[in-house]
Amino acid sequence: MGIFRTKPITGGGTGAGLRRCLSTADLVFLGIGGIIGAGIFVLTGVAAATEAGPAIVVSFLVSGLACAFTALSYAELAAAIGGSGSAYGYAYAGLGEIIAWIVGWDLVLEYGVATAAVAIGWSGYVRDALLAVGVRLPQAVSRVNYDAVWALMLRLARQPVPAAVARAAHAGGFINAPAALVVLALSGVLMAGVRQSATANAVMVVIKLAVIGVFIGVAALHVTPGNWHPFMPFGWPGIMRGAAIIFFAYIGFDAVSTAAEETRDPQRSLPIGIIASLVVCTAIYIAVSGLLTGIVPYFTLNNASPVAESMLILGYPKVALLVGLGAIVGLTSVMLVLFYGLTRIFLAMSRDGLLPPFFAAVHPRTQTPVRVIALCGAGMALIAGFTPIGDVAELVNIGTLAAFAIVCGGVLVLRVTRPDLPRPFRVPASPFVPVLGMVFCLYLMTSLPVVTWIRYIVWLIIGLAVYLGYGRQHSALAPEPGPPLAR
Ligand code: ALA
Repeated sequence: MGIFRTKPITGGGTGAGLRRCLSTADLVFLGIGGIIGAGIFVLTGVAAATEAGPAIVVSFLVSGLACAFTALSYAELAAAIGGSGSAYGYAYAGLGEIIAWIVGWDLVLEYGVATAAVAIGWSGYVRDALLAVGVRLPQAVSRVNYDAVWALMLRLARQPVPAAVARAAHAGGFINAPAALVVLALSGVLMAGVRQSATANAVMVVIKLAVIGVFIGVAALHVTPGNWHPFMPFGWPGIMRGAAIIFFAYIGFDAVSTAAEETRDPQRSLPIGIIASLVVCTAIYIAVSGLLTGIVPYFTLNNASPVAESMLILGYPKVALLVGLGAIVGLTSVMLVLFYGLTRIFLAMSRDGLLPPFFAAVHPRTQTPVRVIALCGAGMALIAGFTPIGDVAELVNIGTLAAFAIVCGGVLVLRVTRPDLPRPFRVPASPFVPVLGMVFCLYLMTSLPVVTWIRYIVWLIIGLAVYLGYGRQHSALAPEPGPPLAR
C-alpha cells in the first residue's frame, strides 16, 4: 500500500547545499545546549513540590533511563541511516511513509511548541531580571492578558464589554514582546550560518554550565538531610507523574540527530554527540535536584524560579542573580537548538515531497534554509507573543515520547528487515534495550493527563488530514501518473 512505502537508504544523505562543518565537540555542545533549560530551572520545583517530593531524583532517573535507551537507539539509526530528517528519516527508511509522517509531525510539535513555550518562560525571567535592576517593562508589551485583548476586540466591534471582563482587562497586556523578539533574533542567528549558530550555542553552554557549577558548589555546603524526609510523600504514582513532567528536561538530545548533513563525520560524531550530552545532563540533573530538595523543604519549591529562589532563601542574593542570568542564557540556547532542529525536519520533509518544495530552498551564500527559518520564526514569534502556549507545554512530552517509542521500534524492525545494513554503532543488548526504551516511553505517556491525550489526538488528526490532502500525492515516492488510457 502506498502509505507504507519506504525510502531507500543511501547512507548519510548528500548535504544538499548545507555546509558540512560541525565537529564531534560541536554536537556534544549542541546536545547540552538543547537539553538544559526550563526543565531544570523551572519545572523541577513544581514537580518536586506537587508530585514527587525529594524523590524527584528518582523521577529524573526514570526519565533519564527512558532517554538513555532511546538515545542508544537513536545512535544506531543515526550512524546507519543519517539524513537531517532525524527520527522522521529513520522511520521513513524502516517503517513506511505514514509512520514517518506521524513522527515528523510529532517532531514539529516537539520543537515548535517547545521553542515557543520556552520563549514565554524566557520572557518571564527577563522581566524579573530587569525589575531587579530597576527597569519595569510596561505591562501592555510584556505579557498577554486575554481579558484585555477580548475587551479591545469587543470595543472595536462596538459591543458592550461585560463588567467582569473590563475589570480583569484593567491591568492591560496585549503582546508578550520579549518572547516574540527573542524568537525573531534567533532566526537571524540561524540564518547567518550553522557555524555561527554552533559557536553562539557553545558560548551559552559554557556560561550555563559555569552557573550550575556555582549553584552546586554553594548548595553542597548547605544540605540539611532532614529536608529529604519524607522522601516519597506522594508514593510511586507521584514519582511517575513527576517523571512524565520532567521528561521535558531531557528533550533536546534528539535534536543532535538533525545535524547529520552538516556534520563532518556523522557516523562517528552523531552517536558520541547524542550519548555524551545525555550522560552529562543526567548527572547534572540528579545532582541539582538532589541538592535543591536538600537545601530547602520540597514544598517551598512551587514557584517559577526555584533554583534562584533557593539561593535567596539561603541568603545568597548575588548567587540568585547569577542563577537567574544563567537560566536566561540556558533557555536561549534551548530555543536556538530546538529551532534549528525544527528547520532541518521541515527541510527533510519538503525534500521528500511531503511538504511544499518552497521549504527546501537553501541560500547559496549562508548555506542555511532561510525560507524555512523565516517562516518558522514568524510563526513561533506570533505564537509566543500572543498565545498561552506555555499552558500546553506537556503536549511536547507526549509527542516526543511517541516519536522516541517509534525510534526504538525502528531499531527492532530494521535489524530484521535489513540485517545487512552497515551499522557503525550498534545498540548493546538488543533487543532488550530498544524494547525497554519502548516500554518506558509508552509507560510515561500513560502517566500524562487525559486532556493531554485528547490534545495530542487532535494534533494527529490534523496531521493525517495534511498528509492525505497533500503529502501522499506529492511524495517523491508517489508513482508517476501513467499515460492516458487508450480508448
Ligand atoms: N530540555 C529543554 C528544557 O528543559 C526543552 O528547556
